[in-house]
Amino acid sequence: MFMIMTAQEIRRAYLEFLSDKQHKIIPRAQLVPKDDPTTLFTGSGMQPLLPYLLGQDHPNGSRLVDSQTCLRAQDIEEVGDNRHTTFFEMLGNWSLGDYFKQEQINWLWQFLTEVIGLDPKRIYVSCYSGSETEGIDKDKESAEIWSSIFSAAGIEAKQVEIGSCENGSKIGEQGGRIFFYEDKNWWSRSGSAKTMPDGEPGGPDTELFYLFPSVKHTSDYGEKCHVNCDCGRYIELGNCVFMEYLKQSRGFVKLPRRNVDYGGGLERIAAAAIDDPDVYSISLMRPIIDVIERLSNKSYATHTTAMRVITDHARAATFLAVDGVVPSNKEQGYVMRRLIRRAIRFAFELGIEQNFIEEVTNSVISIYKEDYPEVAEKHDQIIETLIKEEKIFRQTLRKGLKQIDRLGRSGTLSGQDIFTLYDTFGFPLELSVEEAFSRGLELHDDWRDEFNQSMAEQRERSHTASKGAFKGGLGGSGLIHKKYHTATHLLYKALRETLGDGVIQHGSNITEERLRFDFSYPKKLSPEQIKKIEDIVNMQISNDLKVSWAEYTTDKAINELGALGAFGDRYGDSVKVYSMTEEGANKPYSLEVCGGPHVDRTSELAEGGKRFKIIKEESSSSGIRRIRAVLV
Ligand code: ALA
Repeated sequence: MFMIMTAQEIRRAYLEFLSDKQHKIIPRAQLVPKDDPTTLFTGSGMQPLLPYLLGQDHPNGSRLVDSQTCLRAQDIEEVGDNRHTTFFEMLGNWSLGDYFKQEQINWLWQFLTEVIGLDPKRIYVSCYSGSETEGIDKDKESAEIWSSIFSAAGIEAKQVEIGSCENGSKIGEQGGRIFFYEDKNWWSRSGSAKTMPDGEPGGPDTELFYLFPSVKHTSDYGEKCHVNCDCGRYIELGNCVFMEYLKQSRGFVKLPRRNVDYGGGLERIAAAAIDDPDVYSISLMRPIIDVIERLSNKSYATHTTAMRVITDHARAATFLAVDGVVPSNKEQGYVMRRLIRRAIRFAFELGIEQNFIEEVTNSVISIYKEDYPEVAEKHDQIIETLIKEEKIFRQTLRKGLKQIDRLGRSGTLSGQDIFTLYDTFGFPLELSVEEAFSRGLELHDDWRDEFNQSMAEQRERSHTASKGAFKGGLGGSGLIHKKYHTATHLLYKALRETLGDGVIQHGSNITEERLRFDFSYPKKLSPEQIKKIEDIVNMQISNDLKVSWAEYTTDKAINELGALGAFGDRYGDSVKVYSMTEEGANKPYSLEVCGGPHVDRTSELAEGGKRFKIIKEESSSSGIRRIRAVLV
């Protein structure tokens, strides 16, 4: 029998397990990256180690281990389910040109099954399927290592090719134990092998999942369940990235050293250890829920979502305060403000109207102070920062009450009014309704629809903004890349409309500043032609085409659907096809074979009043023209 470990014990055991294997324990980096202006927060354990993964020597040698506090603000809306949090700890170990797949995979297995005591029969894994287009082989080596491990444990381990999540939800698990995916099993700070920008390191990875049979798959998440399904039956506990590649404009090259970047979610591993799919049940979370239950006099069982949100946001805000962030309307401060206000709003829903931040924060502090002495040292500063924001917000709430008086002079309140109160003054819906009634105001009959409409519009706006600004990875650059990517498809179509079907793409390159596009055409473009091309692109941007993608066999995509490709590109058996379609149209305006990523709607390219403009048209080589264009 194993002793069931608390999350704190698991963290210590992990550091010890790897220091026994000659790893040097390094301290966590702060949540706000020191020398990296491209990203707001430390979102993974590898971020602070980037220079060393790229080849620099680390002062502590070639084997490192830590527990890195991480913040992924892009997950803020997902908080509320049983496993997503904005704040979490990533257990990490690194080999900087030292050990590789054999050691890493075996150690991970040993740690989880022998040290923590997880049930080997509930462990499932995924490996990289390889990519013909990227010229990277299937990771058979990792799969073989897993095979021997499972075989030694007396577990049958059938290998199943899945490829994409879309296919996974079609074909399901097929009785497999080791699954091959393409994009899902490639890790870089900015996504798959296809989407990562030049200069970025990455590599194939192998991920480990734990099965929670008590969670039932539903069709909301796809027809069938598979390890990467979002239904929560399988929870990813760890990811071993074999970081040995660097993306360059001509394709992938090997990094100077073969590295291992392992990251495991402490909270999730701790949940697996107590055999509970709810990460909020672990020893780093449950005591906070207990405080909220006491303050609200309500139970977690009946008020699960609100209590999860408050718990997560309180943890995140506390660590932001530890790392010196203060609430503001900019960057890290804005995220912190949003977290605190969201927590207070959800507390309102629980009926907690008195100041409560202090008690909740104190419980966060007492959970972490032993293992992170800086949390204890900054106790007063943390409390002071959070209380101050709570006070300001409660004043805003008061202003909101005055606003209700103003809005209600006509005797009625519309759904838009209620949305303004919600959005600008942080008023929970229920509060506005209650206040309206207590003032004898009438609500529009369809105020709920009006509210939902305003909410949907706001979501669309903030989704677009947060995709760029609050990515764990590359800050704003991800969004601008997507925009130029989408603009490139529109340009390709406009070129063919203006110059004829002889135009074939011969190359494309995107930076944060511009797009570049090479295509076949025999002569220089006239100013009229350039103007016409710009006008077509701008028209399609304002037509607000919806961008989506689907996977097809290559034959169907090219020969049946007529999707555009680029000259000389080689494709595998199936390809991803992006379409851009106007509302109500029965066929897409643009259809192109492409790995993505793209924006969701072309109108996003016009944000901030921007327009598409060709800034240069020149010869690239014989019969090939080159265009540079910008969104300004
Ligand atoms: N860097 C890898 C991740 O964040 C381990 O998943």
